[in-house]
Amino acid sequence: MASVEPMSGTLGAVMRGVDLSSSLSDDLVAEIWNAFLEHHVLYFPDQDLTPDAQVRFGRHFGELDTHPFVEGMEAHPEVIEIVTEADDRVNFGGGWHSDVTFLEQPDLGSILFAVDVPPFGGDTLFANQHAAYDALSDTMKDMLDGLVAKHSAGPQYAQGGYSTLSRSMKTKPAEGIDTIVRHPLVRTHPETGKKALYVNRAFTVGIAGMRHDEAQALLEFLFVHAVKEPFTCRIRWTSGSVAMWDNRSVQHYALFDYHGHRRHMRRVTVKGDRPR
Ligand code: SIN
Repeated sequence: MASVEPMSGTLGAVMRGVDLSSSLSDDLVAEIWNAFLEHHVLYFPDQDLTPDAQVRFGRHFGELDTHPFVEGMEAHPEVIEIVTEADDRVNFGGGWHSDVTFLEQPDLGSILFAVDVPPFGGDTLFANQHAAYDALSDTMKDMLDGLVAKHSAGPQYAQGGYSTLSRSMKTKPAEGIDTIVRHPLVRTHPETGKKALYVNRAFTVGIAGMRHDEAQALLEFLFVHAVKEPFTCRIRWTSGSVAMWDNRSVQHYALFDYHGHRRHMRRVTVKGDRPR
């Protein structure tokens, strides 16, 4: 039986006593899945995952996705290498976001393995979007509940977008980079039935039916509110650890505070459904 120890008051838990590279029993997979739904972010220290083993672990939770704008590993297209070299000026994931919300069916979760981490810094922050929604006034909730937000990959992945500036990441322009995808601004988690704010600064570009200036004012309030400290936890990585998070209920932010050092992670993502 694995142990599960909460990381903060609102989300995140450390899970010990599991070897993710071994063949996992159905009971253990169910235990991990239940802890994932309860805590939204799980951290597994002391792991040793080859790309094959990471793919095998991810497939317990659904079909794996391939990133439309980032090259996967040659032998493992579902695995992307997230690398910041010592002299890089930007990092991948360096801003609050939920993964690939510019897709019609964004990934339900992401699994990140720390191959090599800097001697300091490089933490990942997470913010619980159920807690962010719950903390709003009833009047604000009523206003937001019926709204539809517009998402696009353009700000990050079109020519000159933030994610293309990293010299170490292999981004690729592809069809659909400027497509606008619409999702409910407040989504209901398909498994727990809880409501969550579903906008993020990286990919949310407007609100249907609102003028640009109206939408920007409301979104700016939500971007700041959604990631306030009481809704957050952080992972201080060690090499050979794994985190798994629920993109339907959290945003995350890869800090870039380790200039002069290298950071190397590998990520797989599990396909999700259409937000409702
Ligand atoms: C990401 O998936 O956005 C990257 C997270 C990280 O490198 O910490």
